[in-house]
Amino acid sequence: MKLHFSLKPLAVAFAMGFGMLAPAFADDDEDTPLAKEMSVLSKSLKKLRKAETTEEKIKLVHAAQASTIKSLEYIPEMFAQIKDAKEKAKATADYKRLMGLTYVDLCALEIAYLEGDEDKADELKSKLKGLKKEGHRKYTE
Ligand code: HEM
Repeated sequence: MKLHFSLKPLAVAFAMGFGMLAPAFADDDEDTPLAKEMSVLSKSLKKLRKAETTEEKIKLVHAAQASTIKSLEYIPEMFAQIKDAKEKAKATADYKRLMGLTYVDLCALEIAYLEGDEDKADELKSKLKGLKKEGHRKYTE
């Protein structure tokens, strides 16, 4: 007796199963939109060490400022774990406060470069590192 069954439905189900898993894996590996902006911010600030002209420095600071503003469109990934609405609202306001301070210092950094004041620029870069430390301590896992 010949068995009349096909493996096709099984193959389809198998493919669908993987189809559903794949995006989950991809999502886990992919940077969040916020991480992408942070990456630009970080690279721009690092490149400042090698920038020689004021023009180059200003261009990098502008890129850092743009990423900081764009970061305000997002919230940290770990906020998904905050279940209490009031806690989440407070954390969101504090996140915006820290990003706002980051933007303010980046504008002060721009002024320092325009004035050719490297000591002031160094001081501001230290302040930015402090904000990064606080933001990451509170809002990254
Ligand atoms: C000069 C300041 C800062 C620099 C250079 C910086 C740099 C970075 C870098 C390199 C990453 C990792 C990106 C990746 O995974 O590829 C990151 C992630 C992150 N940063 Fe910053 N950061 C700064 C300030 C801040 C501040 C002030 C906050 C919070 C108010 C913050 C919150 C976060 C969060 C939450 C992530 C993880 C991304 C996510 O949750 O989606 N960062 N940052």
